[in-house]
Amino acid sequence: MKTVQDLQGSSKRVLPIHSTEEIRQMLGTKPVNLDIIRDPAVYRQEQEKIFRKTWLKVATTWEVANPGDWKVKELAVCDASVIIARGKDGVIRAFHNVCTHRGNKVIPTTEFETFGHSRANVMTCRFHGWVFGTNGDLRSVPMKEEFAEIDTKCLSLREIQCDVWEGFVFINFDKKPEQSLKEYLGGFGELFAGYPYAESTTAYRYSTVLDCNWKVALYAFSEGYHVPTIHAGSLPGFSGIEHTNYRILGPHASSAIYGGGMDTADSTQKFATLLHGAETHKPHPEQLPSGINPGGRSDFQFELPSVFPNFIIHLASGCGYPGLSYFTHQFWPLGHGKTLWEGINYFKPAQNAAEDIAQRHVNALHRNAWLEDTATMEDTFFGIMSGAIDEMHLMDREFLIRHGVETLNRYLSEVEA
Ligand code: FES
Ligand SMILES: [Fe+2]
Repeated sequence: MKTVQDLQGSSKRVLPIHSTEEIRQMLGTKPVNLDIIRDPAVYRQEQEKIFRKTWLKVATTWEVANPGDWKVKELAVCDASVIIARGKDGVIRAFHNVCTHRGNKVIPTTEFETFGHSRANVMTCRFHGWVFGTNGDLRSVPMKEEFAEIDTKCLSLREIQCDVWEGFVFINFDKKPEQSLKEYLGGFGELFAGYPYAESTTAYRYSTVLDCNWKVALYAFSEGYHVPTIHAGSLPGFSGIEHTNYRILGPHASSAIYGGGMDTADSTQKFATLLHGAETHKPHPEQLPSGINPGGRSDFQFELPSVFPNFIIHLASGCGYPGLSYFTHQFWPLGHGKTLWEGINYFKPAQNAAEDIAQRHVNALHRNAWLEDTATMEDTFFGIMSGAIDEMHLMDREFLIRHGVETLNRYLSEVEA
Protein backbone atom coordinates (compact mmCIF):
# COMPACT_ATOMS: atom_id res chain seq x y z
CA MET A 1 0.00 0.00 0.00
CA LYS A 2 1.44 3.36 -1.04
CA THR A 3 0.97 6.34 1.22
CA VAL A 4 0.73 9.97 0.39
CA GLN A 5 4.20 11.32 0.95
CA ASP A 6 3.36 14.97 0.81
CA LEU A 7 0.93 14.69 3.66
CA GLN A 8 3.71 13.65 5.99
CA GLY A 9 4.47 16.23 8.59
CA SER A 10 1.12 17.89 8.22
CA SER A 11 -1.70 17.52 10.70
CA LYS A 12 -3.78 15.70 8.10
CA ARG A 13 -4.27 11.98 8.26
CA VAL A 14 -2.32 10.05 5.67
CA LEU A 15 -4.94 8.39 3.51
CA PRO A 16 -3.94 5.34 1.54
CA ILE A 17 -3.83 4.84 -2.20
CA HIS A 18 -4.81 1.27 -3.00
CA SER A 19 -3.05 -0.93 -5.50
CA THR A 20 -5.03 -2.79 -8.14
CA GLU A 21 -4.48 -6.01 -6.21
CA GLU A 22 -5.86 -4.45 -3.03
CA ILE A 23 -8.88 -3.12 -4.91
CA ARG A 24 -9.56 -6.57 -6.29
CA GLN A 25 -9.37 -8.01 -2.79
CA MET A 26 -11.53 -5.32 -1.26
CA LEU A 27 -14.28 -5.24 -3.86
CA GLY A 28 -14.05 -8.66 -5.50
CA THR A 29 -13.76 -9.37 -9.18
CA LYS A 30 -17.00 -11.16 -10.04
CA PRO A 31 -19.58 -9.83 -12.51
CA VAL A 32 -22.17 -7.53 -10.93
CA ASN A 33 -25.87 -8.37 -11.04
CA LEU A 34 -27.95 -5.81 -12.92
CA ASP A 35 -31.10 -6.08 -10.82
CA ILE A 36 -29.99 -3.02 -8.87
CA ILE A 37 -30.57 -1.05 -12.06
CA ARG A 38 -33.42 -3.07 -13.54
CA ASP A 39 -35.72 -3.57 -10.57
CA PRO A 40 -38.16 -0.69 -9.87
CA ALA A 41 -38.47 -1.97 -6.27
CA VAL A 42 -34.78 -1.16 -5.75
CA TYR A 43 -35.46 2.39 -6.86
CA ARG A 44 -38.18 2.78 -4.23
CA GLN A 45 -35.77 1.48 -1.59
CA GLU A 46 -33.12 3.92 -2.78
CA GLN A 47 -35.56 6.78 -2.29
CA GLU A 48 -36.20 5.84 1.33
CA LYS A 49 -32.87 4.44 2.43
CA ILE A 50 -30.40 6.51 0.47
CA PHE A 51 -31.79 9.77 -0.86
CA ARG A 52 -33.81 10.49 2.29
CA LYS A 53 -30.98 9.44 4.60
CA THR A 54 -27.68 10.67 3.16
CA TRP A 55 -26.24 14.13 2.62
CA LEU A 56 -27.04 15.52 -0.84
CA LYS A 57 -25.27 18.42 -2.48
CA VAL A 58 -27.93 20.89 -3.63
CA ALA A 59 -26.20 24.24 -4.08
CA THR A 60 -23.01 26.23 -3.69
CA THR A 61 -22.53 29.07 -1.23
CA TRP A 62 -21.82 31.51 -4.03
CA GLU A 63 -25.19 30.75 -5.63
CA VAL A 64 -26.73 32.34 -2.54
CA ALA A 65 -23.89 34.76 -1.91
CA ASN A 66 -25.79 37.58 -0.21
CA PRO A 67 -28.43 37.84 2.53
CA GLY A 68 -31.82 37.60 0.84
CA ASP A 69 -30.58 35.27 -1.93
CA TRP A 70 -32.48 32.05 -2.40
CA LYS A 71 -32.45 29.01 -4.63
CA VAL A 72 -35.24 26.48 -5.10
CA LYS A 73 -34.25 22.94 -6.01
CA GLU A 74 -36.88 20.43 -7.11
CA LEU A 75 -36.00 16.94 -5.85
CA ALA A 76 -38.50 14.47 -7.27
CA VAL A 77 -36.56 11.56 -5.78
CA CYS A 78 -37.52 12.82 -2.31
CA ASP A 79 -40.92 14.18 -3.38
CA ALA A 80 -39.67 17.55 -2.27
CA SER A 81 -39.17 21.10 -3.34
CA VAL A 82 -36.40 22.74 -1.30
CA ILE A 83 -35.57 26.38 -0.63
CA ILE A 84 -31.93 27.15 0.14
CA ALA A 85 -31.79 30.71 1.47
CA ARG A 86 -29.22 32.99 3.05
CA GLY A 87 -30.77 34.83 5.98
CA LYS A 88 -30.13 38.37 7.07
CA ASP A 89 -27.66 36.90 9.58
CA GLY A 90 -25.61 35.44 6.70
CA VAL A 91 -26.50 31.83 7.57
CA ILE A 92 -27.55 29.47 4.79
CA ARG A 93 -30.57 27.33 5.69
CA ALA A 94 -32.75 24.86 3.83
CA PHE A 95 -36.53 24.58 4.06
CA HIS A 96 -39.33 22.62 2.51
CA ASN A 97 -40.87 24.91 -0.08
CA VAL A 98 -44.21 24.33 1.55
CA CYS A 99 -46.34 27.06 3.07
CA THR A 100 -47.35 26.25 6.63
CA HIS A 101 -50.83 27.69 6.00
CA ARG A 102 -52.25 25.10 3.61
CA GLY A 103 -49.28 23.65 1.81
CA ASN A 104 -48.89 25.72 -1.33
CA LYS A 105 -45.38 26.20 -2.69
CA VAL A 106 -44.08 29.42 -1.17
CA ILE A 107 -41.94 30.00 -4.26
CA PRO A 108 -43.67 28.63 -7.37
CA THR A 109 -41.31 26.86 -9.76
CA THR A 110 -41.50 25.35 -13.19
CA GLU A 111 -37.80 24.59 -13.58
CA PHE A 112 -35.59 22.04 -11.81
CA GLU A 113 -33.90 24.96 -10.12
CA THR A 114 -34.80 28.62 -9.72
CA PHE A 115 -32.94 31.56 -8.21
CA GLY A 116 -34.10 34.82 -6.67
CA HIS A 117 -33.37 37.56 -4.23
CA SER A 118 -35.41 39.52 -1.72
CA ARG A 119 -34.06 42.88 -0.61
CA ALA A 120 -36.43 42.74 2.34
CA ASN A 121 -35.28 39.20 3.24
CA VAL A 122 -38.76 37.74 2.89
CA MET A 123 -40.56 35.15 0.80
CA THR A 124 -44.30 35.58 0.30
CA CYS A 125 -46.70 32.75 -0.50
CA ARG A 126 -48.84 33.99 -3.36
CA PHE A 127 -51.92 31.98 -2.34
CA HIS A 128 -52.99 34.03 0.71
CA GLY A 129 -49.95 36.20 1.27
CA TRP A 130 -48.27 34.64 4.30
CA VAL A 131 -44.81 36.16 4.59
CA PHE A 132 -41.75 34.18 5.71
CA GLY A 133 -38.29 35.52 6.51
CA THR A 134 -35.29 34.08 4.73
CA ASN A 135 -34.51 32.52 8.13
CA GLY A 136 -37.81 30.62 7.89
CA ASP A 137 -39.76 32.60 10.50
CA LEU A 138 -43.40 33.36 9.77
CA ARG A 139 -43.38 37.14 9.73
CA SER A 140 -46.91 38.11 8.87
CA VAL A 141 -50.35 36.65 8.26
CA PRO A 142 -52.96 38.75 6.47
CA MET A 143 -56.21 39.06 8.49
CA LYS A 144 -54.54 37.34 11.41
CA GLU A 145 -57.27 38.50 13.82
CA GLU A 146 -59.75 36.24 12.05
CA PHE A 147 -57.80 33.08 12.97
CA ALA A 148 -59.35 31.97 16.26
CA GLU A 149 -56.24 29.98 17.09
CA ILE A 150 -52.85 30.63 15.60
CA ASP A 151 -49.33 30.49 17.02
CA THR A 152 -47.09 32.01 14.41
CA LYS A 153 -43.98 30.90 16.33
CA CYS A 154 -44.83 27.29 15.50
CA LEU A 155 -45.53 28.01 11.86
CA SER A 156 -42.06 28.71 10.54
CA LEU A 157 -41.06 27.02 7.31
CA ARG A 158 -40.14 23.40 7.96
CA GLU A 159 -36.38 23.30 8.15
CA ILE A 160 -34.21 20.63 6.54
CA GLN A 161 -30.78 19.70 7.93
CA CYS A 162 -28.23 21.76 6.04
CA ASP A 163 -24.46 22.11 6.22
CA VAL A 164 -21.60 23.32 4.07
CA TRP A 165 -18.35 21.67 2.99
CA GLU A 166 -15.85 23.76 1.03
CA GLY A 167 -18.60 25.96 -0.38
CA PHE A 168 -20.88 23.07 -1.38
CA VAL A 169 -24.24 23.16 0.38
CA PHE A 170 -25.56 19.75 1.41
CA ILE A 171 -28.94 18.83 2.88
CA ASN A 172 -30.20 15.75 4.67
CA PHE A 173 -33.92 14.94 4.82
CA ASP A 174 -33.43 12.83 7.91
CA LYS A 175 -34.55 14.98 10.85
CA LYS A 176 -31.80 13.49 12.98
CA PRO A 177 -29.07 12.28 10.61
CA GLU A 178 -26.95 9.47 12.00
CA GLN A 179 -23.85 11.38 10.95
CA SER A 180 -23.02 15.06 10.62
CA LEU A 181 -21.87 16.15 7.16
CA LYS A 182 -18.30 16.18 8.45
CA GLU A 183 -18.62 12.62 9.71
CA TYR A 184 -20.35 11.50 6.53
CA LEU A 185 -17.59 12.90 4.31
CA GLY A 186 -14.92 11.60 6.68
CA GLY A 187 -11.53 11.08 5.02
CA PHE A 188 -12.94 12.26 1.72
CA GLY A 189 -13.71 15.64 3.23
CA GLU A 190 -10.19 15.87 4.62
CA LEU A 191 -8.44 14.79 1.46
CA PHE A 192 -10.27 17.09 -0.90
CA ALA A 193 -10.43 20.14 1.34
CA GLY A 194 -8.28 23.14 0.60
CA TYR A 195 -8.93 23.50 -3.11
CA PRO A 196 -10.16 27.00 -4.04
CA TYR A 197 -13.61 25.71 -5.03
CA ALA A 198 -15.38 28.80 -3.78
CA GLU A 199 -13.19 31.15 -5.81
CA SER A 200 -14.41 29.52 -9.02
CA THR A 201 -17.66 31.39 -9.17
CA THR A 202 -18.02 31.48 -12.95
CA ALA A 203 -20.19 28.49 -13.75
CA TYR A 204 -21.52 27.11 -17.03
CA ARG A 205 -24.23 24.54 -16.55
CA TYR A 206 -25.47 21.89 -18.98
CA SER A 207 -28.32 19.54 -18.19
CA THR A 208 -30.72 17.16 -19.82
CA VAL A 209 -33.36 14.60 -18.90
CA LEU A 210 -32.41 11.08 -19.90
CA ASP A 211 -34.60 8.01 -20.17
CA CYS A 212 -32.39 5.86 -17.99
CA ASN A 213 -31.88 4.86 -14.39
CA TRP A 214 -29.75 7.37 -12.49
CA LYS A 215 -26.98 4.83 -11.88
CA VAL A 216 -26.55 4.18 -15.60
CA ALA A 217 -25.70 7.87 -15.98
CA LEU A 218 -23.56 7.98 -12.84
CA TYR A 219 -21.57 4.90 -13.79
CA ALA A 220 -20.96 6.18 -17.33
CA PHE A 221 -19.17 9.17 -15.82
CA SER A 222 -17.28 7.04 -13.29
CA GLU A 223 -14.60 5.50 -15.48
CA GLY A 224 -12.03 6.44 -18.10
CA TYR A 225 -12.23 3.11 -19.95
CA HIS A 226 -14.59 4.64 -22.52
CA VAL A 227 -12.47 7.68 -23.36
CA PRO A 228 -10.50 6.32 -26.36
CA THR A 229 -13.70 5.00 -27.98
CA ILE A 230 -16.64 7.25 -27.10
CA HIS A 231 -14.51 10.40 -27.10
CA ALA A 232 -12.54 9.65 -30.25
CA GLY A 233 -14.47 12.53 -31.82
CA SER A 234 -14.08 15.23 -29.19
CA LEU A 235 -10.71 14.18 -27.73
CA PRO A 236 -8.82 12.50 -30.56
CA GLY A 237 -5.44 13.46 -29.10
CA PHE A 238 -6.25 12.27 -25.60
CA SER A 239 -4.03 9.26 -25.58
CA GLY A 240 -2.50 6.77 -23.23
CA ILE A 241 -5.16 7.11 -20.56
CA GLU A 242 -4.03 5.86 -17.20
CA HIS A 243 -6.67 5.48 -14.54
CA THR A 244 -4.91 5.03 -11.23
CA ASN A 245 -4.46 6.17 -7.59
CA TYR A 246 -7.49 4.27 -6.38
CA ARG A 247 -8.83 5.35 -3.03
CA ILE A 248 -11.77 4.04 -1.07
CA LEU A 249 -12.97 6.52 1.53
CA GLY A 250 -15.99 4.97 3.22
CA PRO A 251 -19.02 5.37 0.94
CA HIS A 252 -16.99 7.71 -1.27
CA ALA A 253 -14.08 6.91 -3.56
CA SER A 254 -11.66 8.52 -5.96
CA SER A 255 -9.06 7.91 -8.61
CA ALA A 256 -6.91 9.94 -10.96
CA ILE A 257 -6.79 10.19 -14.73
CA TYR A 258 -3.42 10.73 -16.36
CA GLY A 259 -2.70 11.07 -20.06
CA GLY A 260 -1.55 13.40 -22.78
CA GLY A 261 -2.91 15.12 -25.79
CA MET A 262 -5.66 17.34 -24.46
CA ASP A 263 -4.07 20.35 -26.16
CA THR A 264 -3.38 18.96 -29.59
CA ALA A 265 -6.70 17.66 -30.86
CA ASP A 266 -7.61 20.23 -33.47
CA SER A 267 -7.15 23.79 -34.54
CA THR A 268 -9.57 25.13 -31.93
CA GLN A 269 -7.56 23.49 -29.20
CA LYS A 270 -4.32 24.76 -30.72
CA PHE A 271 -5.77 28.23 -30.50
CA ALA A 272 -6.66 27.68 -26.88
CA THR A 273 -3.22 26.25 -26.23
CA LEU A 274 -1.82 29.50 -27.52
CA LEU A 275 -3.89 31.27 -24.90
CA HIS A 276 -2.98 28.78 -22.21
CA GLY A 277 0.64 29.61 -22.88
CA ALA A 278 0.15 32.97 -21.24
CA GLU A 279 1.25 33.16 -17.62
CA THR A 280 -2.30 33.22 -16.32
CA HIS A 281 -3.22 30.05 -18.19
CA LYS A 282 -0.48 27.90 -16.81
CA PRO A 283 -1.47 24.87 -14.77
CA HIS A 284 -1.49 25.43 -11.04
CA PRO A 285 -0.69 22.01 -9.58
CA GLU A 286 0.33 23.66 -6.33
CA GLN A 287 -3.29 24.61 -5.71
CA LEU A 288 -4.49 21.02 -5.77
CA PRO A 289 -5.22 19.63 -2.32
CA SER A 290 -2.10 18.04 -0.91
CA GLY A 291 -2.32 14.34 -1.58
CA ILE A 292 -3.74 14.72 -5.07
CA ASN A 293 -1.32 13.86 -7.88
CA PRO A 294 1.40 12.67 -5.49
CA GLY A 295 4.76 13.01 -7.18
CA GLY A 296 3.50 15.95 -9.22
CA ARG A 297 3.31 14.14 -12.56
CA SER A 298 3.01 16.60 -15.43
CA ASP A 299 0.52 14.46 -17.38
CA PHE A 300 -2.03 14.63 -14.55
CA GLN A 301 -5.38 15.43 -16.13
CA PHE A 302 -7.88 15.29 -13.32
CA GLU A 303 -8.87 13.61 -10.10
CA LEU A 304 -12.24 11.90 -10.18
CA PRO A 305 -13.75 11.93 -6.69
CA SER A 306 -17.18 10.42 -6.27
CA VAL A 307 -19.38 11.48 -3.35
CA PHE A 308 -22.07 8.94 -2.56
CA PRO A 309 -24.75 8.83 -3.76
CA ASN A 310 -24.90 11.10 -6.80
CA PHE A 311 -22.15 13.74 -6.98
CA ILE A 312 -18.88 13.63 -8.92
CA ILE A 313 -16.19 16.30 -8.95
CA HIS A 314 -13.42 16.44 -11.56
CA LEU A 315 -10.51 18.36 -10.09
CA ALA A 316 -8.04 19.68 -12.62
CA SER A 317 -4.83 21.60 -12.01
CA GLY A 318 -4.98 23.41 -15.28
CA CYS A 319 -3.21 20.94 -17.57
CA GLY A 320 -4.99 21.51 -20.84
CA TYR A 321 -7.33 23.91 -19.09
CA PRO A 322 -7.21 27.65 -18.62
CA GLY A 323 -5.79 28.12 -15.18
CA LEU A 324 -7.42 26.25 -12.36
CA SER A 325 -10.79 24.75 -13.11
CA TYR A 326 -13.02 21.91 -12.08
CA PHE A 327 -16.29 20.44 -13.19
CA THR A 328 -19.00 18.47 -11.50
CA HIS A 329 -21.69 16.01 -12.48
CA GLN A 330 -24.83 15.23 -10.59
CA PHE A 331 -27.53 12.66 -11.26
CA TRP A 332 -31.03 13.28 -9.93
CA PRO A 333 -33.55 10.47 -10.32
CA LEU A 334 -36.91 11.62 -11.64
CA GLY A 335 -38.25 8.06 -11.52
CA HIS A 336 -36.89 4.55 -11.92
CA GLY A 337 -36.12 5.11 -15.61
CA LYS A 338 -35.71 8.88 -15.79
CA THR A 339 -32.77 11.01 -14.70
CA LEU A 340 -31.85 14.66 -14.66
CA TRP A 341 -28.13 14.97 -15.41
CA GLU A 342 -26.33 18.22 -14.59
CA GLY A 343 -22.79 19.02 -15.70
CA ILE A 344 -21.23 22.26 -14.48
CA ASN A 345 -17.87 23.83 -15.40
CA TYR A 346 -16.42 26.12 -12.75
CA PHE A 347 -13.73 28.75 -13.36
CA LYS A 348 -12.24 31.63 -11.51
CA PRO A 349 -13.77 34.76 -13.04
CA ALA A 350 -11.91 35.62 -16.25
CA GLN A 351 -9.58 38.59 -15.85
CA ASN A 352 -9.26 39.40 -19.53
CA ALA A 353 -10.61 38.51 -22.96
CA ALA A 354 -8.04 35.75 -23.48
CA GLU A 355 -9.11 33.98 -20.31
CA ASP A 356 -12.74 34.37 -21.25
CA ILE A 357 -12.12 32.81 -24.67
CA ALA A 358 -10.11 30.00 -23.12
CA GLN A 359 -12.92 29.23 -20.65
CA ARG A 360 -15.48 29.19 -23.42
CA HIS A 361 -13.26 26.85 -25.36
CA VAL A 362 -13.17 24.41 -22.43
CA ASN A 363 -16.93 24.70 -22.17
CA ALA A 364 -17.34 23.77 -25.81
CA LEU A 365 -14.91 20.89 -25.43
CA HIS A 366 -16.80 19.53 -22.44
CA ARG A 367 -20.16 20.05 -24.10
CA ASN A 368 -19.00 17.93 -27.03
CA ALA A 369 -17.60 15.23 -24.76
CA TRP A 370 -20.72 15.22 -22.59
CA LEU A 371 -22.94 14.88 -25.64
CA GLU A 372 -20.91 11.78 -26.49
CA ASP A 373 -21.25 10.51 -22.90
CA THR A 374 -24.98 11.08 -22.61
CA ALA A 375 -25.58 9.48 -26.02
CA THR A 376 -24.83 6.02 -24.58
CA MET A 377 -27.02 6.11 -21.52
CA GLU A 378 -30.50 5.50 -22.90
CA ASP A 379 -29.20 2.65 -25.07
CA THR A 380 -27.45 1.08 -22.09
CA PHE A 381 -30.60 1.27 -19.97
CA PHE A 382 -32.72 -0.11 -22.83
CA GLY A 383 -30.33 -3.03 -23.16
CA ILE A 384 -30.35 -3.74 -19.43
CA MET A 385 -34.15 -3.54 -19.26
CA SER A 386 -34.49 -5.94 -22.22
CA GLY A 387 -33.34 -8.77 -19.97
CA ALA A 388 -30.80 -9.95 -22.53
CA ILE A 389 -28.00 -9.80 -19.97
CA ASP A 390 -28.11 -10.24 -16.20
CA GLU A 391 -24.67 -9.02 -15.23
CA MET A 392 -22.09 -6.39 -16.03
CA HIS A 393 -18.41 -7.30 -16.26
CA LEU A 394 -16.14 -4.71 -14.73
CA MET A 395 -12.41 -4.17 -15.25
CA ASP A 396 -10.04 -2.58 -12.76
CA ARG A 397 -10.56 0.94 -14.06
CA GLU A 398 -14.27 0.57 -13.45
CA PHE A 399 -13.69 0.18 -9.72
CA LEU A 400 -15.73 3.28 -8.87
CA ILE A 401 -18.75 1.42 -10.27
CA ARG A 402 -17.98 -1.71 -8.30
CA HIS A 403 -17.51 0.36 -5.15
CA GLY A 404 -20.71 2.32 -5.89
CA VAL A 405 -22.71 -0.91 -6.20
CA GLU A 406 -21.20 -2.28 -3.00
CA THR A 407 -22.01 0.92 -1.11
CA LEU A 408 -25.53 0.98 -2.50
CA ASN A 409 -26.16 -2.61 -1.43
CA ARG A 410 -24.74 -1.86 2.00
CA TYR A 411 -27.08 1.09 2.50
CA LEU A 412 -30.09 -0.89 1.31
CA SER A 413 -29.39 -3.83 3.61
CA GLU A 414 -27.89 -1.99 6.61
CA VAL A 415 -30.90 0.19 7.21
CA GLU A 416 -33.18 -2.81 6.90
CA ALA A 417 -31.15 -4.60 9.56
S1 FES B 1 -51.15 28.35 1.34
FE1 FES B 1 -49.65 29.86 1.59
S2 FES B 1 -50.69 31.57 2.31
FE2 FES B 1 -52.22 30.06 2.10
FE1 LIG C 1 -16.79 10.51 -20.89
